[in-house]
Amino acid sequence: MSVVAVVGGQWGDEGKGKVIDLLAERADFVIRSQGGDNAGHTVVNPMGEFALHLVPCGVFNPDSTCIIAPGVALNPAILLEEMDRLEQHGVSTRRLLLSDRTQVVMPYHLLLDRAFENHRADDPIGTTLRGIGPAYADKAARVGLRLGDLRNAATWEAKVQTAVERANRLLVAFGSGQRCDADEVVHDYRRHAERLQPMICDTAPVVAAAVARNAAILLEGAQGTLLDLDHGNYPYVTASSCTVAGLLQGAGIPPRAFSRAIGVYKAYSTRVGSGPLPTELLDATGDYIRERAHEFGATTGRARRVGWFDSVVSRYTIALNGFDAAALMRIDMLDELDSVKLCTAYELDGERLDLPPSNLDLHSRCKPVYEELPGWRESTRGATRFEDLPPAAISFVQRVEALLAVPVHLIGLGPERSEGIVRQPLWPSPTS
Ligand code: IMP
Repeated sequence: MSVVAVVGGQWGDEGKGKVIDLLAERADFVIRSQGGDNAGHTVVNPMGEFALHLVPCGVFNPDSTCIIAPGVALNPAILLEEMDRLEQHGVSTRRLLLSDRTQVVMPYHLLLDRAFENHRADDPIGTTLRGIGPAYADKAARVGLRLGDLRNAATWEAKVQTAVERANRLLVAFGSGQRCDADEVVHDYRRHAERLQPMICDTAPVVAAAVARNAAILLEGAQGTLLDLDHGNYPYVTASSCTVAGLLQGAGIPPRAFSRAIGVYKAYSTRVGSGPLPTELLDATGDYIRERAHEFGATTGRARRVGWFDSVVSRYTIALNGFDAAALMRIDMLDELDSVKLCTAYELDGERLDLPPSNLDLHSRCKPVYEELPGWRESTRGATRFEDLPPAAISFVQRVEALLAVPVHLIGLGPERSEGIVRQPLWPSPTS
């Protein structure tokens, strides 16, 4: 049928889990292409409420095959825990395939993540400390271990010994008092390997066959475009490519097979960790939105920084990804406000900017230019048609659409799969 990507248009936590869960109902394949258990997708559907970190959201659709692709950094212990939790809630994880090319997050990556953050002292990135950055650094240095290595018991031990020795040297160099024990790692990962073995395979032929037969393939984005390693607010970014192009690369899908990109945006901004957030609300309104929307990290529990919707960065992420449609999430969190602000441009040293500066110091100095819209002061929960929304909420959505120049096809009005307004089918029609 088609290849659809769901990608975060802001700094992650936009509500992608809900959009992916909706699309996954009709997906033959759901592929996780990048990132690791630093991601946290919250899904609320008829099977319950779940915080997924690694398992693709297609797990709730018994007809869908889930793939963890080569672009992912996978912590086996976390994956197994997550699978156990799902099984305990009656969700089968039988249709999960793991690429043998996928990088393995090792215990020393977690120790190194902390050591590197401590070394940055006054200027930490604010990572999730899940070892994701160090795992991708090893991949780029060509010293990473892959799931395929885990399958080969004869060579695994020697590879771990070498890798642990290297990591321990780094821990010493970066002043960490912690060390990794190679024997313990070999032992623990042998146990993980026994359970993961049946799922590990070369997923490339599976993906190629799915593309060839026009299957409905959903690429599940993690994090958000402004956290992308190349295009985000470097260095306050994650270590993978979170854009549409990054998802295609991580999954091994030819760009020619691609059909549609859906950008997910929240009706306001949030960010966890350091880096510019020009519309940040350091006042009672920010605290109110954080509490009402429970804006605390699904992975780390950290309080998220909150700000108004920023169309300057959104324009940038739309240009980068070429989104065909947007999903505008969590509008109901603004239901009680007297007025709502939208950042339409930045002002920097007397100049008006429509796109964010690439230089982070300049970005941090930008002053948002706001448009203030009246609030709707009534609940939007339960609305299923656009025209049923309060007039002020309709104006808000229309203004966002005009600022982004991308149609909003989905409006999120609550955590449940069914809560929201689907204005246009999310999957392209077979003829389009
Ligand atoms: P790392 O990915 O753990 O290395 O963290 C790098 C930056 O990305 C930090 O600012 C994290 O808070 C942020 N980050 C990583 N994953 C997510 C996510 O899924 N949602 C939001 N922020 C994230």
